[in-house]
Amino acid sequence: MRVVILGSGRGSNAEAILVAQQAGRLGRAQVVQIFSDQPGAGILNLGPRFGVPAAFLDAAPFKTKLDGEGEQRYVAAIEACAPDLIVLAGFMRVLKPPFLGRFAGRVINLHPSLLPSFPGLDGIGQAFRRGVKITGCTVHHVTPEVDGGPIIDQAAVRIEPTDTLETLAAKVHAAEHALLPAVIARLSEAAG
Ligand code: GAR
Repeated sequence: MRVVILGSGRGSNAEAILVAQQAGRLGRAQVVQIFSDQPGAGILNLGPRFGVPAAFLDAAPFKTKLDGEGEQRYVAAIEACAPDLIVLAGFMRVLKPPFLGRFAGRVINLHPSLLPSFPGLDGIGQAFRRGVKITGCTVHHVTPEVDGGPIIDQAAVRIEPTDTLETLAAKVHAAEHALLPAVIARLSEAAG
């Protein structure tokens, strides 16, 4: 299973995927390319470290969605990778129907809350401020409804009275780092 990772940030989840692959814990999946819409994103440093091509790919003209010329650039570059699975690991743009139609059923996203609670930006902060006692993370199929696609799997994280936003974020990220590689491995085995 050929996997393309898209990310905008530090890339700790992409790193967890690549560590799992090195350790033989990613099933039949193999990361073939990383793309980032941010030229200085930490996720791009993983390329040389793990021997995977990693490149900035301009998503202009829009800032929070992948549309127009930027979308066309992404579709062309990702098609050239012949991916079986596209993993959004902190890719902070909304994907539109042309992209999702081209890669139908092959795009999954990681979100830092137990969807359908706390979709959108800052899922960890939203849960913390709301005062829920259990939050977590979700991996789901991507559809045009933001954070609304079918849920593949989730992991729960308890919010203790002593937690701060920082300690909670660390716990949610640790849960993500376990969940996302496990889901990819399972999908790859299921795809045979
Ligand atoms: C992760 O916590 C992921 O759940 C979140 O961005 C972070 C990326 O961290 N994604 C979203 O909020 C998507 N709406 P990373 O760059 O260290 O993997």
